[in-house]
This record gives sequence, C-alpha cells and structure tokens, in this order.
Amino acid sequence: MFLSNPAVAELEPYTPGLSREFVSRKYGVPLDDVAKLGSAENPLGPSPLAKAAVEAALGRIDLYPEWTAAPLREKIAQTYDVHPDQVVCGAGETEILSWIIRVFAEPGGKLLMHSPTFPIYHLFAGAEGRQCVFVPMGGDFDFHLDRFIEHIAGDVRVVFLTRPHSPTGKLLDDADVRRVCEAAGERLVVLDEAYIHFTETAGGIHLVEDFDNLIVLRTFSKAYGLAGLRIGFGITRPHIALPMLAVKPTWNMGQLQVAGGIAALDDHQHVSRTVSMIVEMRDYVAGRLGALNSFRMIAGSRSNFFLLEILDTTLDSTKVFNELLERGVIVKDGSVSFHGLGHRYMRVDVSLRKHMDRLVEALAEIEPRAG
Ligand SMILES: Cc1ncc(COP(=O)(O)O)c(C=O)c1O
Repeated sequence: MFLSNPAVAELEPYTPGLSREFVSRKYGVPLDDVAKLGSAENPLGPSPLAKAAVEAALGRIDLYPEWTAAPLREKIAQTYDVHPDQVVCGAGETEILSWIIRVFAEPGGKLLMHSPTFPIYHLFAGAEGRQCVFVPMGGDFDFHLDRFIEHIAGDVRVVFLTRPHSPTGKLLDDADVRRVCEAAGERLVVLDEAYIHFTETAGGIHLVEDFDNLIVLRTFSKAYGLAGLRIGFGITRPHIALPMLAVKPTWNMGQLQVAGGIAALDDHQHVSRTVSMIVEMRDYVAGRLGALNSFRMIAGSRSNFFLLEILDTTLDSTKVFNELLERGVIVKDGSVSFHGLGHRYMRVDVSLRKHMDRLVEALAEIEPRAG
C-alpha cells in the first residue's frame, strides 16, 4: 500500500461550486444563460485597473517576486493606515488560514467556530490534526454570542468569526467582536471579512489598534473580482504576522498577483459599482422570492449571497440543487457545503437581474403546485 499520513489519507477534500462550462455541456443550456450562483464571485468581472496592471506586469514574470510581496504589503499598509510589518499576503485568504491553523494551534489544539461556517476552517483543521469546537447558531441563525464566548476556554487556541457570516450573510457588530477579543485573552481571534464591502460598513481593521490578539482577513476575490488571481491579506500586530512567515511558501505571491492587488486597491469605481449592484439586487431578489410558497429567504443578509430555506417537505436541498442545475442555475447545496446545515438550505449568490430572474423562475417551476 502507498504510504501516506493516515490523518490526511481518509479526509474528504473541499467541494467547489460547479463551473458554467460543465453545466452548459451537461444540460444543454447556452453558456451565457447559465446563472453561476455558487461561488460568490463578482458578476461584473475583474477590476479593470487590476487587469491592465496584470497585463503590464507580464514582462516581469521571468523574475522572482520579493518573497513577502513587499510592494503590495506597503500599498495595503498605506491604504489602511498601518505599518507594512502588520500585513501578510497570501494566495487568497485561504492560504493565510492554513498558516494560522499551523502556527497558532498545536496538533490536538482546539479551534472554535460557529456551525454552519466557511468550510475551509475545519477542512484545514482536520488535515492538520487540530480539533474543531462548533457552536451551533440559533433559530433563524442568530450568533448566540454568549454561548459562543462561554466556549472560549481551556485548550481553545484560535477563535474564528466571519463578518459578514457565511453562509447566512448576517453581520456581527464591533461591540460583538470586542467582546470576543476580550474573552479570548492570549488566544488568537480571526476576523474573516472576505465580504465586508457588501455590508457598506468599514469593517474591523481599526480594532487591531485596540487588540493584540486579532487578525483581520480580507480578499481580492469578491468586490474586486479577482478570484482567479488569488490574493488575500491579513492585518494584525507584528508579533502575530512574523511567525507566519516561517510556514509561508517562500514565493507564494507571484508578480501578477502583486501588480494586480496594488492596482485594485485604487479601483474605487469598480468596487462601488459592484456594491451598488449587489445591494440593489439583494432587495430585488428578496421581493421576488416573497411570491413563492415553498421557499423562504433567511432575512438579514448583508453579503452577496443569502440562505434559501426549503419549506416544502417533499423537497430537500440536494433535490432542488439538481433541479436547478437542469435549468442552468448553479447554487450551493447546504447539505454538502456547510457543516451542520442539514438538508433544507441552499446558499445562493446575489447577481445580475437576469440571473435573479432565472433563479426565481426555475424555483417557481420546481415548487409543487398548490391544491
Ligand atoms: C468566508 C470566506 N472567507 C474566505 C474565503 C476565501 O477567499 P480567497 O479567495 O481569498 O481564498 C471565502 C471564499 O469563498 C469565504 O467565503
């Protein structure tokens, strides 16, 4: 038998959202009509400033980049009024999350998170032999913050908060984050703000000034439309940033990522167009879904996705997921993608009006006729 680490060999890998090409080929739906609502990407495409900068940087791809992405770290530091030593850059937030788990929890150490949550936290934890403590969210997905804070004890090493939360889109406020940081003491608090632009709030980077146990994570994959370029960053105190360099793959950030990230930070126009469209379509789709009997949008999303509950007991999330695929609509089946979510929910992106219409029309076809 091939020898490998038994802790990893048995694990299930991440389940990604399906591609437009796959669905078009399999179900014969024209490519442009496929509504890709499972990966929370930017439907307006990449930041034009980033795209131009990446093209201009192509002539430099023979050279190794600066190994800590220093030019991008400096730009991020300038943008958020922090010191470059407070910034780490990774191939998406996803890469930084993997270092955090390795650096701040020892094997067997515990990581605290809500259930449901962004699956990368517990997938990496499992692969690295760390243990997860899940705190279930309450009815209609409130955070149960008192209960969550009670679990910050013993050998819990890292505490994850997602703001806005995935998959619900609900928003913790600064006072909540402060309570968690205070309770965490010498444990690390990770505030994952991948989707913060869509909340139209400033987010928690300023809290790093008050708390020496906090790292705030951001990504270029969402509002900037650069999911395929792979850029994320963390802002924290230097004593937290520094040890992560020991596990960071040496040249993790290529020339194109560095150039694209720097340019994107100045693309306020693309971000504000994107955010306005999402906010408008979030209300629009909420109104249209209200006319259906078998589905209910979970209220309160401040993100570019929402949870859709299946009310009809003859349906479940896998059945609806497959029926939607046949109609050229890709969503996330909650039972596959989110720990503890069960079979009655799907996570659906907010997107262009034509995709929202296609979603609602497909759901209306799927729901059993009344009477
Ligand atoms: C909550 C959350 N954090 C982080 C990420 C990953 O972002 P990145 O593309 O920067 O790795 C995602 C991606 O969907 C996410 O949903």
